[in-house]
Amino acid sequence: MNKLKRALFVVIAVVTLACGGASETKEESTLSSRDQIRLKQYQIQGAKIYATYCTNCHQQDGKGLASLYPPLAGSDYLLENLPRAACIIKNGQSKEIVVNGVTYNQMMPGNPITNLEIAEVLTFISNAWGNEGGLIGVRDVEKWVTECEE
Ligand code: HEC
Repeated sequence: MNKLKRALFVVIAVVTLACGGASETKEESTLSSRDQIRLKQYQIQGAKIYATYCTNCHQQDGKGLASLYPPLAGSDYLLENLPRAACIIKNGQSKEIVVNGVTYNQMMPGNPITNLEIAEVLTFISNAWGNEGGLIGVRDVEKWVTECEE
């Protein structure tokens, strides 16, 4: 009898754990598939914003132009600090910076675009040309641009 009880307990424990685990996995995959869709949307919108506001200087292939415009493709400077990138897109920047070992000291003007558009174009450039920065949400950008340096 005692043995049976113990066996029953084990069965219940296993079933409980298995179900708990399963529902958690399901929730995670639902969340990430929603983010996956958002990532795609941001990339599509971001590509349009990039074509309008950024290609002139950073070029369609994201490689920049000589010593005038730094690259975004494979840019260590971009990917190591996305909050800073959001601020550069919004306010522009003109100071000496080093991108992939090359020094630039030029002027980038600010852009008259919304926080959502900044999130979209930042998501686009962070995931184009082999970059893997993931989804950058508008909530993050909203917070980051209130904390810009200058
Ligand atoms: C008029 C030319 C010009 C335009 C247009 C322009 N940029 Fe820039 N961008 C620059 C220059 C020049 C720098 C370097 C500034 C410095 O020396 O501080 C720069 C720097 C950057 C950087 C940081 C450096 C790097 O290579 O990672 C990012 C990110 C960036 N730009 C993104 C953008 C995005 C996104 C757009 C469009 C919304 C854009 N830029 C539009 C000229 C431009």
